[in-house]
Amino acid sequence: MAKRIIGIGLMGLGVIAGQVARVVRDRAEALEQQVGCPLVLKKIKVLPQDLGRPLAKELDSKLLTTDAEEFFAEPGIDIVVEAIGGEKPAYEYLRRALSAGKYVVTSNKEVIAKHGAELRTLAKERKVDLRYEASVGGGIPIISPLRFDLVANRINGIYAIINGTTNYILTCMAKEGADFASTLKKAQELGYAEANPRDDIEGIDATYKLAILSSLAFQMEVLPGDIHSEGISRLHARDFRYAQELGFAIKLLAIAKQDDKWAEVRVHPVFIPEDSLLAKVDGVYNAILVEGDLVGKVLFYGQGAGPYPTSSAVIADVVAAANDILRGAGSWVRWEPRKDKVLKPMSEVITRYYLRMNVADQPGVLAQISKILGDNQISISSLIQKDADAQAQTAEIVIMTHPAREAAMQTALKDMANLPVVREISNFIRVEA
Ligand code: HSE
Repeated sequence: MAKRIIGIGLMGLGVIAGQVARVVRDRAEALEQQVGCPLVLKKIKVLPQDLGRPLAKELDSKLLTTDAEEFFAEPGIDIVVEAIGGEKPAYEYLRRALSAGKYVVTSNKEVIAKHGAELRTLAKERKVDLRYEASVGGGIPIISPLRFDLVANRINGIYAIINGTTNYILTCMAKEGADFASTLKKAQELGYAEANPRDDIEGIDATYKLAILSSLAFQMEVLPGDIHSEGISRLHARDFRYAQELGFAIKLLAIAKQDDKWAEVRVHPVFIPEDSLLAKVDGVYNAILVEGDLVGKVLFYGQGAGPYPTSSAVIADVVAAANDILRGAGSWVRWEPRKDKVLKPMSEVITRYYLRMNVADQPGVLAQISKILGDNQISISSLIQKDADAQAQTAEIVIMTHPAREAAMQTALKDMANLPVVREISNFIRVEA
């Protein structure tokens, strides 16, 4: 009888997929020891431009195909590993692989965020597993902890820095006092931000990742469109100076909380206390703080992107899938997304707020502003006035509030903006303390 092998079909030969192919090839012996039989690349679906890559020339040319039909016709594939990225055509490929009864490993955050519930159901129907550890946090184990290690807990909250590009920019702005535009330009020159940085700086990438984490943690279907999302482009050097003076750091946080009634999911810049764990996560690093009712707080920290960390997560999924196949373990997701929990509308969210505004430097201004806040049940916790411009007769004031409802704050912001003495509401940042 022929010796059992586990056949892998790889989709993509870009930076991530190429590194996955290298690990399967270069660590064959160590992986065989983990699994108990060889993991063998059976077919690689490439784009025509991939054929010019150095790795394509090192691999057996019979492995490579630009034809999806030829890829799916390969009989020896047990596990399809998708590292193409983007929604299309990856979504169709994953549906096709699962429908054909293949185990699937993917690093694709967009497809899992938008179609995870459907793909998990398909996997369950076919009694195969869909694994996506690399879709959030690169090499940081977080999907597996939420699926397996922390299942005894009710997850009360997730607070995550899950976009390295924005964390790099915010770290530079905080440390160098630089403005957003010049910091983004520097990040692009250094290769930390993409030429088209929109998905990262507008919070879209973090929203995909939060949809994945919150769906798993709360066992419900949270779609990217359900998540209130704001990016970092409206942050100014002045906000960082005030944050430091007040004892805070500014981070782009992905937040998911639940209570008995609501699930609350949002991505936006926040003030967090400078001595908190997440405030110390600098540069391109990611960190995910999970609060479980039994385990308490657990922090996952590491490199959230890049071919080496991402291949680490992909290969771990491949090994786990291979073990399931060999032992018939059947680790597909059993739960159905719950329907009883409702997403909290943003208007109901309660946080503290930082407000920075430019006002006329004349008697009675603060009284008018504090009246509007008071009328909206918003209590001021501290106030600073600085940088009076004698010539323009204006001053900048910064207000920190006690916890208040978002709807009340939005009404107050509109009313304050309409005051003749308010020249500009310069910024408004929520505080997670
Ligand atoms: N663009 C992402 C980031 C990495 O900046 O963290 C890939 O998920």
